[in-house]
Amino acid sequence: MTHARLYIPGPTDVPQDALEAQAQPLMGHRSAEFATLFYRLADKLKRILHTEQHAFIVTASGSGLQEAAVRNAVRPGRKILNMVAGAFGDRWHKIAIANGYESVRVDLAWGQPVRPEDVLAALDKGGFDAVAIVHNETSTGVISHVAEIARAVRDKHPDALLLVDGVSSVGGAPLYFDDWGLDLVLTSSQKALALPPGLAFAAVSHRLLQRAAEIPHRGWYFDLLLLEKYFRNGRTTPATPAITLLYAADRQFDRILAEGLNARWARHRRCMEMTHAWASERGFTRFAEPGYESPTVTCLKNDRGLDLAEFIARARARGMIIGAGYGPLKGETFRIAHMGERKPADMAALFAVLDELF
Ligand SMILES: Cc1ncc(COP(=O)(O)O)c(C=O)c1O
Repeated sequence: MTHARLYIPGPTDVPQDALEAQAQPLMGHRSAEFATLFYRLADKLKRILHTEQHAFIVTASGSGLQEAAVRNAVRPGRKILNMVAGAFGDRWHKIAIANGYESVRVDLAWGQPVRPEDVLAALDKGGFDAVAIVHNETSTGVISHVAEIARAVRDKHPDALLLVDGVSSVGGAPLYFDDWGLDLVLTSSQKALALPPGLAFAAVSHRLLQRAAEIPHRGWYFDLLLLEKYFRNGRTTPATPAITLLYAADRQFDRILAEGLNARWARHRRCMEMTHAWASERGFTRFAEPGYESPTVTCLKNDRGLDLAEFIARARARGMIIGAGYGPLKGETFRIAHMGERKPADMAALFAVLDELF
């Protein structure tokens, strides 16, 4: 059976061998065999995230680790800064509020990146334990220059922890956790890493774990100190992990590391450039501020006044699934993802089909 191809910004298509890896027999998560798998995965994850600090693998989607980030980084009576330039910046703000934190929300125009000066202007008001930023805003197709933001924050507000949502960037765009001086980067399995949904991954700094120790109520499921304690003691995880998904990750992380992060990032960029060229030739402009276009998902304005629901449905009928605009951008924009295992030939195949639909 041929299946429709996913050009939506997650979930992405998963290679067959990673899918099949899930069909292996189960093992107990307190066994030595499982510990070997879990530690091997943590090592591979550290290489993907470019860190020698802490790697976390949890059974949840990425939003779970957004909750973990807030609860482990912000002390009672202190504030979190939420930079909001799209739907997922908004998600993080909502998570902070839902957990009872005082959040200062800075709204930026959708389509714009988060810029260092906006972060500093807010932090200058004082009282913050952390700033939460989305690296790649999937709703708008905008990537922010996190390295620059981190440098500025480190310089002016060295006590503010830097929490980064890398859900649609990790594995698809350059990210150097240690070199950039970040405190937490989280991601989901189902985006640029091309795994099934259900796992979330994070790199965490030593200093964030020190901060967590000053916070009395970090929750239980996402208590990073508890997770770290189990990991260190050889007991792997406090609760039962999604073992079959970990089999898939073991296989897929090997593919990612064999390709090499630089080559993978360059491939995503080439697919992005093809998408830009196709869109410009067909009269579609990009929603993202120039210079901040995402290498994993392109958000295009509906300049041709298409009936987007119908256009997307017809593409689907031809086996190509592209993304609608997100939330308030529905009808105004549509999105083409070029993340995960997508290659230039896949993009060419998509454009050949879309061209027949005009
Ligand atoms: C940038 C970003 N952050 C967070 C999320 C939420 O991730 P999850 O659905 O894995 O919880 C998404 C999902 O699309 C996303 O794109």
